[in-house]
Amino acid sequence: MTDTTRSELRYEGKAKRVYATPNPAEYLVEYKDDATAFNAQKRGSWAGKGATNNAITAALYPKLEAAGIPTHFIEKLSSTEQRVKAVTIVPVEVIVRNVAAGSFAKKLGLEEGKTLARPVVEYCYKSDALGDPLVNTDTAVALGWASEGDLARIRELALQVRDFLTPFFEQRGIRLIDFKLEFGKLPSGQIVLADEISPDTCRFWDAETNEKMDKDRFRRDLGGVEEAYGEMLRRVEQA
Ligand SMILES: Nc1ncnc2c1ncn2[C@@H]1O[C@H](COP(=O)(O)OP(=O)(O)OP(=O)(O)O)[C@@H](O)[C@H]1O
Ligand SMILES: [Mg+2]
Repeated sequence: MTDTTRSELRYEGKAKRVYATPNPAEYLVEYKDDATAFNAQKRGSWAGKGATNNAITAALYPKLEAAGIPTHFIEKLSSTEQRVKAVTIVPVEVIVRNVAAGSFAKKLGLEEGKTLARPVVEYCYKSDALGDPLVNTDTAVALGWASEGDLARIRELALQVRDFLTPFFEQRGIRLIDFKLEFGKLPSGQIVLADEISPDTCRFWDAETNEKMDKDRFRRDLGGVEEAYGEMLRRVEQA
């Protein structure tokens, strides 16, 4: 996009830049090629990563909207940029798990890949300095991050996202193991899904081979990172 719609940089994160626009109700989000893991202790980057994550997110959000989930997404502007509604992000990362993996499997002594009897929703405080610690909804209310009502709505929406995405990926030969969501508040008070949904924020396993098709390839030095992200975009775009 051109500089006429992109004004000052509001926030530079590890994977994206958020810009103000002439319309105070909207932001422009630019997806970068950078990748980080383990609280940014591990860093990397590859050409096309930002474009791939932008394309995956921009393909999924309208489908989620159509399924009745309000989101911040407005439109894709270019290969690496999208227009979104400006929201106040609730400082809680919402993790939804279908299958035990990662930190959850480790801390509970579970084998990675064990299907959970029902989905698990977890909350982490969005603080890199503190390592995104696990919290519960009482903590979030007590510390003024969100109201009880907002958190109930967030949980409901997170499970709706899960109910849409799980069969969507299953139909494309992918097991959706777990994923991280962020929610924000519009000036009206409405809670909407914000941020991205991509191989950076989800665990995707190939249904046939169990091969990892997500950021774990980067985290665990499994190789084929670019190829896996590219393959996930192809699966998402599959009719
Ligand atoms: N619609 C929106 N309005 C305001 N902020 C948003 C919106 N969507 C996403 N964000 C925020 O923009 C930032 C995107 O940058 P990025 O994902 O690179 O951050 P990060 O380095 O992962 O750090 P963070 O821990 O804050 O997510 C995040 O802080 C995210 O919460
Ligand atoms: Mg982020």
